[in-house]
Formats: sequence, structure tokens, C-alpha cells
Amino acid sequence: MKKKVLLGICGGIAAYKSCELVRLLKKSGYQVNVVMTRAAADFVSPTTFQALSGEPVLLDTHDGSGGNGMAHINLSRQADVMLIAPASANTLAKIAHGMADNLLTTLVAARSCPLAVAPAMNVQMWNNPANQRNLALLQQDQIKILGPAVGEQACGEVGSGRMLEAAELADLLCDVWVPSVLAGKRGLITTGATFEAIDPVRGITNISSGQMGMALARACRAAGANVSLVYGQIQTMLAPGLAYTEQAVSADAMLAAVQRLILEQDVFISVAAVADYKVKNRSEQKLKKLAGQTVPTIELTENADILATVASQPNAPFCVGFAAESEHVLEYARAKRKKKGVPLLVANDVSQAMGKATNQVILLDDEQETILPQMSKDDTATAIVARLAQLLAQQ
Ligand SMILES: Cc1cc2nc3c(=O)[nH]c(=O)nc-3n(C[C@H](O)[C@H](O)[C@H](O)COP(=O)(O)O)c2cc1C
Repeated sequence: MKKKVLLGICGGIAAYKSCELVRLLKKSGYQVNVVMTRAAADFVSPTTFQALSGEPVLLDTHDGSGGNGMAHINLSRQADVMLIAPASANTLAKIAHGMADNLLTTLVAARSCPLAVAPAMNVQMWNNPANQRNLALLQQDQIKILGPAVGEQACGEVGSGRMLEAAELADLLCDVWVPSVLAGKRGLITTGATFEAIDPVRGITNISSGQMGMALARACRAAGANVSLVYGQIQTMLAPGLAYTEQAVSADAMLAAVQRLILEQDVFISVAAVADYKVKNRSEQKLKKLAGQTVPTIELTENADILATVASQPNAPFCVGFAAESEHVLEYARAKRKKKGVPLLVANDVSQAMGKATNQVILLDDEQETILPQMSKDDTATAIVARLAQLLAQQ
């Protein structure tokens, strides 16, 4: 059965982005019912949303009130989730205080489904203490706040308050159905391939795409964690809704970033394919191929082991490691878990995993070894997070 999204739209310039959001949600298989405020209809015509959603668009409390005459009850009971995007400062204030003076706010008050809001407003409006107080109240009421992003605004000012992009909201909406098993936890994840420079244009890297770490970042975020991500070279989009992201391309840079961030973390998930060796005799200038010259020799020296460094610290966060092996996967993974001293290790066969959209992993911890089926990296990440949350709860 199609999941039903009740999409509320408030009066703001960002209402134009919601046209694309409706299109994306429909494409993902959702039924979308749009409810607009009167102010929203000054920005985008209800006809546009009706055409895109294929459903009638409602504005007033008495709209769509066939049958028992109570659209505000009927619509909210049919919905699996309610999303307000853009959510104006005005509507957020009303919701925070339980007001129900138009169809949208009445639906919110009468709903029985989860609610997420995507604020969109000028930076001063966003920072306004009254608005911040209202947001704190909404969070207390388990309402998910999606974004906002920082950047240039329609008014020309720069700062916090931009509505997230439609694709980001469509991605984040799925979180609403995920149990918050990591609520209140802070997690640091590394992903992607490192790059060890030989000279200014050449280097040693590997085929890791960063997809598995990105899927874990999304899964941890969906489970309610505050996620920081340090990534090397990646061939995937950065997941939206992460608390902090930083690119660190070499193993040394990744170690430095991890050491700077690790003290605040409850969980560390080391997914990045970090080079074991770096170039000792790195050239400051591009190596030239000169006639008669001998073939240059590249000398290697060992990189620090980021996971083992973190895991051996006093008060280390709960550490999850990855073992990518090309043979004897289970045997090498058992040895690696012991050597690095990590409570949870995810083993996979490089031929099944690296650069691919799916993965087949084995989870190894003190209690059990669980072989998961071949599945998408998102599903694999969800399974890893479920086990991680169980183990964390036992600590
Ligand atoms: C051109 C224009 C742009 C606006 N943009 C926003 C906005 O991005 N965010 C916001 O909270 N209010 C914005 N407003 C103010 C709201 O439209 C106003 O507070 C309105 O009462 C909101 O009503 P609603 O919450 O019922 O949709 C804007 C107003 C105008 C005229």
C-alpha cells in the first residue's frame, strides 16, 4: 500500500521548492495530499500542487469536508506522516502553542501521525529568540525539525534559514518511520578512500566509493543520532541532515580530523578505506619523465591505524570497525577484531562490496557472528545500526 504524506505549505518564497518535492515524493511511490495556508497560495497556485500531486488541494477548514464535514480529522487519520515544507515562523509559533486557526494548524493539532517541519525564513527571523523558543517547544513535542540549511537567501542576506532542497527533504522524510534507537547519541563516521600523494598530481588510492559509510551516516541520523562525517575521496552524494562534515583526503589528515572530533562521541564507525602506507619520498614538484633517467622509486612508510588508535584510548567511544578482505573473510575478521580491540566488526568480501551498490556482510561481536544476506547498502546499514544499538544498550 502507498504511504500517504500530508504536505503542508506555508507562505514563503521556498514554496516553489515544494513543487519539486511533490514530484519527487510521487516518484518514490507516496500519495501526497497538499494543504496550503492562505499565505502560501500567494506564492504558488494551488492548481500547480493539484496537478503535481493528482489530489485536490485544501486551504480552508471547510474544504474537502464531504461526509462528516471534518476534513481536519479525516485527512490526518489517513496520513502516515505529515510534513510542513516550507514551515513559516508564523505557523511554527502557532503549532508550538497548540493553536488551530486554519486547516493546516487544525490538522497538526488533530493529527495522530508523526510530524516533521522544514523551516524556511530569513536569518534574523530564524535567530529571533521567540522563534528559537518555539523550535525548542516543537522538539520537546517530538516534532522533527528538518534543516534549515545555511546559505544565500531570497532576500539577499546570508545565514541559517534556507529550506533544505527537495531531494534532501524526500530523503529525510523516510527517517520519520525509523525507531529512534540512537536518540541522544553522538556518532563519528569515516568513509571513502584516502589518497596518498606521490607528487602534486599523482597519488595512491583505492576503489572505495564511500557508499557504505554514507549509508551508515543516513541510518544513524534516521535512528536519531547526531552524526559527524569525515570523508576522503567519495563517489556518492553527501547525506543531508548531518551535524558536521569534513573532507580529509590523506590518512594523516583523516587521523587529525578524527582525533579532533572523537572526544565528544559516543560511537565511532570506521568505514573509510584508509591506506596502510603513504609515500615517504613525496615530490614537491611534478615528477618529470626525462630521457635517459632511471624509473623513479616510490618509498613507502606506514600510516597510523586510525581505528586502533581510537579504540585503545581511555574512555574510547563504542567502536565499530570494517574488515574488507579478498579471502578467508571470517578468519581474518576474527583476528582483526581482536587485534584492534573493537566490540563490533563488520566483515565483507571486497569483491562483494567495494564500489558496489549492495553488500553482503558478517557482524562479529562478543556474543554472536551474524551473516546478513546480500542487500542494498542502506538495508545493510540499518541492520548494523540495529545491532550497534542493542550492544550500546547493554553497556
Ligand atoms: C515576499 C515574502 C516572503 C516571505 N517569506 C517568508 C519566509 O520565507 N518565511 C516566513 O516564515 N515568512 C515569510 N514571509 C511572511 C509570511 O508570509 C507571513 O508571516 C505569513 O503570515 C505566514 O502565514 P502562514 O504561516 O499562514 O503561511 C514572507 C512574506 C513575504 C511578503
